[in-house]
Amino acid sequence: MNIRVQAAAPAQRKAHPPARELGFGHYFSDHMLLWNQDAERGWHDARIVPYGPLSLDPACMALHYAQQIFEGIKAYHGDDGGLRIFRLSKYVERMQRSALRMCMPPPEGEGLQQAIRELVLLDREWVPTDPGSALYIRPNMIAADPYLGVRPSQSYLLYVITSPVGAYYPEGFNPISIMVEDRYVRASQGGVGEAKTGGNYAATLLSQIDARRQGYTQVLWLDGRERRYVEEVGTMNIFFRLDDEVITSPLTGTVLPGVTRDSVLEVLRQWGECRVTERRLAIDEVTDAARSGRLREVFGTGTAAVVSPVSQFAYKGEVYRVGDGQTGPLSRRLFDHINDLQHGRLPDPLGWAPRIDT
Ligand SMILES: Cc1ncc(COP(=O)(O)O)c(C=O)c1O
Repeated sequence: MNIRVQAAAPAQRKAHPPARELGFGHYFSDHMLLWNQDAERGWHDARIVPYGPLSLDPACMALHYAQQIFEGIKAYHGDDGGLRIFRLSKYVERMQRSALRMCMPPPEGEGLQQAIRELVLLDREWVPTDPGSALYIRPNMIAADPYLGVRPSQSYLLYVITSPVGAYYPEGFNPISIMVEDRYVRASQGGVGEAKTGGNYAATLLSQIDARRQGYTQVLWLDGRERRYVEEVGTMNIFFRLDDEVITSPLTGTVLPGVTRDSVLEVLRQWGECRVTERRLAIDEVTDAARSGRLREVFGTGTAAVVSPVSQFAYKGEVYRVGDGQTGPLSRRLFDHINDLQHGRLPDPLGWAPRIDT
């Protein structure tokens, strides 16, 4: 694919913030990718331009009917100085599936991967080098027709921006506490829960604020029908270790098929030390296990934090402790292993973290 590049002029280039101030999602690199699609021309006019505001018609359909999808991917600066993007093809495939669910034309996979690699290479100075930091890559696709009325748009804009992000755990690998939501639901069977579309996130804000007010970091969602089976947490999938069985909810349409979830399942199966199951898990089974001391570890998985250990959770007014309330050994080991793969410190037989700069 031919991608036109308009490099930012020196005056358009921004100062790089100090590593300790990066946080998550506050800063953006110098360039962005734009790519258009319509029925007549298909995907066309891929171009990299200086980062800046988009000009949108106020009637732009994405702004009214939320026909929109996005992704979240990371590029890493390896110990050998190389640049790596973790499992890029897997994220692109998920974006294609989200597109189909939201009645949008899936972006051409090879083309999108190439475009992302070129964007990251052009802004390679923006890939932070401090331990734990990365360049977060955010592809976003929106319905672009200026039209009022509910139907699929006939034109789309896909754009990609990138953001240097700091270590998710600047003060160490600290466990979080979560609140089990038994009032609101995030998704239900037949809905759009498995698509990465903005409305799924807007729907979680009320619960998130409530959880924060009560001193919890994240919300654990239960299934939409019975409010009984655990699904996922905030922007992470969730795993429970009951004795030596590690359980995560199956992908039945209501849970985002996390790339980190998939990586963790694969690594656990390679290690072969625990029984790994994707099955429905009732919250009552989790509370019983916590009471009887069988609940050894709970952790979330996601691109932002990789692995996020959980030390306690609240359900129907009761607080349950996980294991001894500290980060569990499996969470720690998984975090280190995936982090090492992402930075090129381990052999990579599955080709998850290829260098993009050679
Ligand atoms: C709702 C939700 N679940 C799970 C995840 C974890 O997915 P991944 O590991 O691909 O980042 C995310 C983050 O993308 C998410 O937004």
